[in-house]
Amino acid sequence: MRRRSLLIVIALVLVATSCRRANRPASAVAIARPTQYELRLGKEVYQSYCIGCHGDSGAGDGFNAFNLDPHPRDLSDPVFQKGKSNAELADAIRRGGAGVGLTSLMPPWGHTLDDRHIDAVVVYIRSMKR
Ligand code: HEC
Repeated sequence: MRRRSLLIVIALVLVATSCRRANRPASAVAIARPTQYELRLGKEVYQSYCIGCHGDSGAGDGFNAFNLDPHPRDLSDPVFQKGKSNAELADAIRRGGAGVGLTSLMPPWGHTLDDRHIDAVVVYIRSMKR
C-alpha cells in the first residue's frame, strides 16, 4: 500500500514537471528574453561559423563574401530584420539556403549546431541591427 502511494506521488510529480516544460519551451523563453549568456554564446557561434561570409557586423562583407554570387545580404539592415521572424531566421540557418529557397551558398547548419546554439545565434543576429 505504501509503495503504491509513493508511485502515485512520483507520477504526479512527473506530470506536474512535464506540464511546466510543455508550457514554456526553453527555446521560446531564450528568444523572448535573451540573457547576456545567450548573447555571448551566439556571438561565439557567429564568430566561429558565420563571420567569414556575413562579416564582422553582419553587413555581408566577410573575407569570403566576394567569392559568393549572390553576396550574403546585410543581416544588420533594420528592414531585413523587421521582415523576418526569429523562426524564419532559425529555419534558414538550420536548413541552409537550399532548404528555404535561397542560394545553396548558404550552408545548412542543422547538423553542426543544436537548437540552443541556433537560437543563440539568432539572438546575436538581432543584436547586430543597426
Ligand atoms: C559560405 C558562406 C556563408 C556562411 C559560412 C554562412 N552564410 Fe548565411 N548566407 C550566405 C549566403 C550567400 C546567403 C544568401 C544570401 C542572403 O540572404 O544573405 C545566406 C543567408 C543567410 C540567412 C538568411 C537570410 C534570409 O534572407 O532569410 C541567414 C539568417 C544566415 N545566412 C545566417 C547565417 C549564420 C547564422 C551563419 C553561421 C552559423 C551563416 N549564415 C553562415 C552565406 C553564408
